[in-house]
Amino acid sequence: MITFKDYYQNNVKLSFTKNPFSKQPKHVWVITKYKHQWLLTKHKDRGLEFPGGKVEEGEKAEDAAEREVYEETGGIISNLKYIGQYFVDGKGGEVIKNVYYAEVDQLIKQPTYFETDGPVLLDTLPEDIQESSLFSFMMKDAVLPQSLKVIKKMEANS
Ligand code: GTP
Repeated sequence: MITFKDYYQNNVKLSFTKNPFSKQPKHVWVITKYKHQWLLTKHKDRGLEFPGGKVEEGEKAEDAAEREVYEETGGIISNLKYIGQYFVDGKGGEVIKNVYYAEVDQLIKQPTYFETDGPVLLDTLPEDIQESSLFSFMMKDAVLPQSLKVIKKMEANS
């Protein structure tokens, strides 16, 4: 378990075991690749971030991950892998979010991308995300680099 403060100074706990905080998390976040590029979305208020959102009533977290990637980027997931789960002790309440890694093999243009401006492809994730106003707060704490480390190891072993 890793603990740290997020961009807003909320306490966060992150773990790469299976469902350490909840079997039914209400949020999902999907670190997504399309071919050899990172696939992000541009949230209208928060800026660039990996796709994700809330799990709907009666929906499985994995299905929410697939749905959110499709709604926010038009991406069809070919391979979804559970990475970990984090717990944010936020001022407005607690948030428990599953992190996934997904490969997308098709990007389908959508009439609307909901609260986002749709897909953004990046060759690399910049070093200065934490200082960049282009990126969402979600991309600015230890969840992203720690998850990327796990994904890299997983990819090296596959
Ligand atoms: P919607 O507008 O309905 O999406 O909801 P909301 O703004 O109420 O947000 P949500 O329930 O998604 O999150 C509530 C609060 O939890 C946010 O304002 C953040 O402080 C925190 N939070 C949500 N997601 C994350 C995340 O991925 N990382 C961190 N560090 N905090 C998060």
